[in-house]
Amino acid sequence: MPLKSKIEELKKRREQVQMGGGEKAIEKQQAMGKLTARERIIALLDKDSFHEYDLFVEHEARDFDMDKKVLHGDGVVIGTGTIHGGPVCIFAQDFTVAGGSLGVMHARKITKIMDHALKMRVPLIGINDSGGARIQEGVNSLSGYGEIFFRNTLSSGVIPQISVILGPCAGGAVYSPALTDFVFVVDKISKMFITGPEVIKTVLGEEISMEDLGGARVHSEITGNAHFYAESEMECFEQIKKLISFVPGSNDSKPVIKPVQEPLSRYNINDIVPDDPKHPYDVRDVIKSIIDGSDFIEVQELWAKNMVIGFGRINGQTCGFVCNQPLVLAGVLDVDSSDKASRFIRYCDAFNIPIVTLVDLPGYLPGIDQEHAGVIRHGAKVLYAYSEATVPKLTVILRKAYGGGYIAMGSRHLRSDFVFAWPSAEIAVMGPEGAANIIFRKEIMSSENPEETRKHKVKEYKSKFANPYVAAAKGYVDSVIEPSETRKLLIHAINVAKNKSISGPRKKHGVPPF
Ligand code: HXC
Repeated sequence: MPLKSKIEELKKRREQVQMGGGEKAIEKQQAMGKLTARERIIALLDKDSFHEYDLFVEHEARDFDMDKKVLHGDGVVIGTGTIHGGPVCIFAQDFTVAGGSLGVMHARKITKIMDHALKMRVPLIGINDSGGARIQEGVNSLSGYGEIFFRNTLSSGVIPQISVILGPCAGGAVYSPALTDFVFVVDKISKMFITGPEVIKTVLGEEISMEDLGGARVHSEITGNAHFYAESEMECFEQIKKLISFVPGSNDSKPVIKPVQEPLSRYNINDIVPDDPKHPYDVRDVIKSIIDGSDFIEVQELWAKNMVIGFGRINGQTCGFVCNQPLVLAGVLDVDSSDKASRFIRYCDAFNIPIVTLVDLPGYLPGIDQEHAGVIRHGAKVLYAYSEATVPKLTVILRKAYGGGYIAMGSRHLRSDFVFAWPSAEIAVMGPEGAANIIFRKEIMSSENPEETRKHKVKEYKSKFANPYVAAAKGYVDSVIEPSETRKLLIHAINVAKNKSISGPRKKHGVPPF
């Protein structure tokens, strides 16, 4: 056969396989408001940058009449491409082929591209749209999941791993996304659960919809399993592209520095924190007053909102922000916000991203619910993550820094490199009211006018301790600064700390309070 004909044959074969599960299945996919696997990859990657591999892979199953079935590409598309010109490895499960179910060859394709990503030190993006382990392939398909989970763990902290849930992600399949760094979900499309509605009905006799069980909002607002929520697939792809622009391709490289020409101080930052310490404000206004172009990408925006985490640039350098949010629960640390902060700190530390901490919290959230939910164990994660992190750590105390919260939120004692405080900072063991009630209790109770005495004692305590100068006198705070000086000082501190190098005692690894 002449080469020309062979090329024609190749084209035909490609076309056939790229039809996935066929026209009807594609129509069904579209009717659900979903793109196909290849459409998704093309929409996400730079134009014409995608190269597909293992297009002609077929399954090898023989039981349950599987020998009579052709499953194009075995239900998954893999390949490489670029985002903002930087290389990425990608896989997308094709729901039009046997519900994107994971058989042996399907898994082998995924693990092949995972191995590439790790070897080449480039980000891995996995688009999940699957009915889970292919039932007809039994334990063989389970082995495939095991191989994927193992590689997710191996790659953790080496390359960024991004999971996109664009359909069902059922059964044990959920554990691959859970092992990755960032999970993206889309309203009405993402469904993520261990046991589906059918099983729940059989075992518990309860009726529940897939949406209420594990839809996009559930994982963005309640479980915290998702890090980014979008209204549509296209919005989701824009979010991924933005995230990729902030993070380095691997733990060997640094994020691309985007040079900026911006003023060193922002005119409005002095007015953000209200004079009354009981009045809330949005810490995101402070972040946006500090970073380049007010360009902030918030992570887990809808979950544990008393903590704000995300990426922004300072003088072109990506920084991870860990900030109490006074707008929600006065910015307290609790079980969820501790989990949220500590995991993010570890991510930044693994990928050479300096951490900027903005502090304003009354401490850990009191109450039996929190105690029984394990606030001791979860809260300890924050201490562990900050103490362990060796990237530059810069802390700014904006207002309250009370008790354990003061220590936990990037204090000098956990080896922050620079600790700044605004004049509005109050650094104390606890809030003035609580403190006065305890240490002056006898005096207050025995006085002729207890209420007056209490007020007087609160005032006395406030003037003595509710300021940054006691901590500054001990060197726990390096500098008390005007809010408008913050950006300038952080730029300077990042520059000074850029070659920071420290090492701890030799160990295999620590035992964090997971
Ligand atoms: C084989 C599967 C499949 C599976 C779906 N299909 N899931 N084939 N194994 N796990 C096939 C269907 O038979 C159907 O084939 C096609 O995919 C489309 O599925 P539908 O059911 O028609 O689609 P839809 O109505 O949209 O429902 C999607 C679904 C449902 C909700 C995902 O298919 C479902 O509940 N599947 C099973 C989910 C599940 O329990 N998985 C867990 C497996 S155990 P045809 O030929 O009719 O088009 C597991 C453990 C892993 O994953 C543990 C790892 C540690």
